[in-house]
Amino acid sequence: MFDLERFIAECRAALAADGSARLVREAVARAVSEPASVVKGLGEPKRAEAQKLYHASDLTILNVIWGPMMTVAPHNHQMWAVIGIYSGREDNIFWRRLPDGSGRVEAAGARALSVGDVEPLGHNIIHSVTNPIPRLTGAIHVYGGDFFAAERSEWDSETLMAGRYDVERVMRRFEAANAGIRGDR
Ligand SMILES: [Fe+2]
Repeated sequence: MFDLERFIAECRAALAADGSARLVREAVARAVSEPASVVKGLGEPKRAEAQKLYHASDLTILNVIWGPMMTVAPHNHQMWAVIGIYSGREDNIFWRRLPDGSGRVEAAGARALSVGDVEPLGHNIIHSVTNPIPRLTGAIHVYGGDFFAAERSEWDSETLMAGRYDVERVMRRFEAANAGIRGDR
């Protein structure tokens, strides 16, 4: 079975070995290659949430449960990240800043992630995420820093203009997704 303490130890050892996402990616890939085991270890996804599994100044591990059809606006992290899917689907759009200095972004690429897929995100990446299916999606997100303390940006979904990233606002989106789930019943 997926053992959280062992996974944390693996990520810490990977980070200590070379400080990059390379070995962490391998650890996440190993974990999500047995998705049923991850569900057993972390519990069946029940509600949209970003569950903190581990939090230190140089490493954050989240169990991210996306609500049905939930989308989060383009944002950056200012640290590398590794995403691994253990249930459902996650569509990522990657964005780049327009060279005109306006603060706007344009779409630069996309990656559709399914169960077992792992995607490493570079330090400067800007992405938006959609769960494109009408049920919960479960993903392990590992960040090479303090996810909750970093100063970062979020781009407005409609205007694509840069603004300040507000972690509380993002957490409220998870709760709004849960209100949607309850409303559908
Ligand atoms: Fe993100």
